[in-house]
Amino acid sequence: MTASLVSEPLDIASIRADFPILQKILPEGQPLVYLDNAATAQKPRAVIDKLVEVFEGYNANANRAAHTLAAMIDLELDAARSKVAALLNARSTDEVIFTPGTTAGLNMLAWGWARKFLKPGDELVISLMEHHANFVPWQQAALATGATLKFFPLTPDGRLDLDRLSETITPQTRLVALTAMSNVLGTINPIAAIAARVREVGAVFVVDGAQSVPHGPVDVQNPDIDFLVFSAHKIYGPTGVGVLYGKESRLRELEPSIFGGNMIRSVRVDGSEWADLPARFEAGTPAIAEAIALGTAIDYVQAIGLDRIAAHERMLTERAYAGLSEIDGLRILGPAVAHRGAILAFTVEGVHPRDLGELLDQQRGIAIRVGHHCAMPLHESLGLASSARASFAVYNTRDEADALVNGVARAVKSLRRKRS
Ligand SMILES: Cc1ncc(COP(=O)(O)O)c(C=O)c1O
Repeated sequence: MTASLVSEPLDIASIRADFPILQKILPEGQPLVYLDNAATAQKPRAVIDKLVEVFEGYNANANRAAHTLAAMIDLELDAARSKVAALLNARSTDEVIFTPGTTAGLNMLAWGWARKFLKPGDELVISLMEHHANFVPWQQAALATGATLKFFPLTPDGRLDLDRLSETITPQTRLVALTAMSNVLGTINPIAAIAARVREVGAVFVVDGAQSVPHGPVDVQNPDIDFLVFSAHKIYGPTGVGVLYGKESRLRELEPSIFGGNMIRSVRVDGSEWADLPARFEAGTPAIAEAIALGTAIDYVQAIGLDRIAAHERMLTERAYAGLSEIDGLRILGPAVAHRGAILAFTVEGVHPRDLGELLDQQRGIAIRVGHHCAMPLHESLGLASSARASFAVYNTRDEADALVNGVARAVKSLRRKRS
């Protein structure tokens, strides 16, 4: 992609027209302003149509039968796997495992890698900014194996403290699992610097790509990472499906943790042999139509260009960041805009995030998320129980960023008036 194309503004009106739900008028009469994209993104018509096409046209189980529909579904599923491999720059489609989502992928690694290899004295590094999906599985694996769970120190503004990289990732470190982008602080983490240190000490690097893959280009070979997980539903695809990318040599070390049909080469009464990659990690019937429609979602973002999506979302984030920062008593969590993606979590002095979220929804049709965003340890470390979070996607507009700022300003005034 050339620089001039990247800087060319997107035709957001025509992108919005691709998403049926964005045409919705809410029961109170306002149009929907959907700013909860970090939780799940809306689906373009092409993805919805693909699901219908599969179920109406060639629904069959995958990898099993010899009939016409089965051949069609297998072709489509293979095509979707190739699209994922191309998106991530994987070396082969054998490195792409379809999973039920990010959470499932991380659990597969915690069960099949961490519990297999870790022992007392080994170290496992995560950070306080991790989503519970990239926190609890490792915590439990550490408890089960006697390995030590270590936390990558954060700077006061919510970034990984690279000055402490070599004391954090040490020769005792066996595995490092970090998010590429925080779902609360919005921090974009320096994956390349961490990958280099992980290589130096010979550990395994797991990247949680749930928030990063939908918002910009990714290349699993550069920087060199071992495993990367993401969910289709955050990249405009269906729920119920996600991806575990694994470097082939690492996947060969990984033990399957879900057993049954499709993942075996042979089963005897006294033992079983596993199928080759990727089937070994895809026991049972996968979310076939959903995986195929993930392929369509990937086509969709690639047709726009992930660089251009990132540039558009950066503009929205800068605009909303500047506007929200002007509101008296409002504190944006996380670093300056240069270090963050399209997520703005914040608190407002004297205002409960839930009241703010409800008012924005009821009076202005603005959907944001309130709560701990599955990051309780992070909130606790900030002295908070919850926060409000707005997050952008490709279809959001400047006007919506402004509506957020104006809506929050007015809601805060009215909630403060009510209190006094
Ligand atoms: C950073 C991060 N990791 C993991 C997850 C879990 O994703 P899923 O619920 O799709 O498994 C999320 C979801 O919000 C997330 O933001």
